[in-house]
Amino acid sequence: MERELNGRVAVITGASSGIGEATARALAARGASVALLARRVDRVESLADELSGAEGDAKALALEADVTDRASIEEAARRIREELGRADCLINNAGVMLLSPFEQGKVDEWKQMIDVNLTGVLETTDVFLGQLLDGGGDIVNISSVAGRKGIPSSGAYNATKWGINGWSDALRQEMLGTGVRIILVEPGAVATELASHISDEASKKRIDDMSENFDILEAEDIASVIEYSVSVPERVSLTEILIRPTEQPI
Ligand SMILES: NC(=O)c1ccc[n+]([C@@H]2O[C@H](COP(=O)([O-])OP(=O)(O)OC[C@H]3O[C@@H](n4cnc5c(N)ncnc54)[C@H](OP(=O)(O)O)[C@@H]3O)[C@@H](O)[C@H]2O)c1
Repeated sequence: MERELNGRVAVITGASSGIGEATARALAARGASVALLARRVDRVESLADELSGAEGDAKALALEADVTDRASIEEAARRIREELGRADCLINNAGVMLLSPFEQGKVDEWKQMIDVNLTGVLETTDVFLGQLLDGGGDIVNISSVAGRKGIPSSGAYNATKWGINGWSDALRQEMLGTGVRIILVEPGAVATELASHISDEASKKRIDDMSENFDILEAEDIASVIEYSVSVPERVSLTEILIRPTEQPI
């Protein structure tokens, strides 16, 4: 049986920009209700205004939430259940990429990446798992090429995404028989705000230069893969999807 998006309730972390925002648009256009989580609440509120009622009875709910603050995720989960119904699709998308050579010892940035990209994903999943298990659904974990390939100046980011890959495979096996699928998406370079927070100028330039050298992906390219992966028939598990710009070497 195909998993129609119409009538489903998708929770998207980091919905205020980039891949999360594009995914919210793609799922809402197929009739899913969307819960838009982010710290920049003004941005998710205006997206929710735009998407509400865009397709049939689909709703959009903006929620201020920080994936490193469990209480804010629990409050979001409570409001989603009350206002949209049971969440049956969780897109663990919120992330930060603070690149720098290891020798610079930017411990606070390593910790921030571990807190958001790794612990934040596990805790968010823990909070929503009860709703997902209550009838099945999909968990989409946004990893990266950096979850499979070590890249200089990317070591701590590599560690977080590599961690997500291992955890996703373990969780997929634990979820067998429950109707919950685990889908891992590993993008290469995508044009978003992600690199704008990098404090090391050389690392930031390396990322910015990519778009000078070849056509990098658009957030919509990843959104359409996510949309497809959650709507294939229930017997199909798109377990791991690596998607690069055609000319990206690593
Ligand atoms: N762009 C790429 O080349 C690329 C490649 C591979 C993988 N990815 C992954 O794709 C995901 C989305 O990134 P993007 O490229 O779309 O970048 P982006 O535009 O910077 O989006 C990142 C999102 O994460 C949210 N976020 C950051 N810290 C958060 C926190 N503590 N709590 C809640 N939300 C938080 C941000 O929202 P607020 O600031 O409003 O909270 C923002 O919406 C990330 O996991 C990233 O690692 C991106």
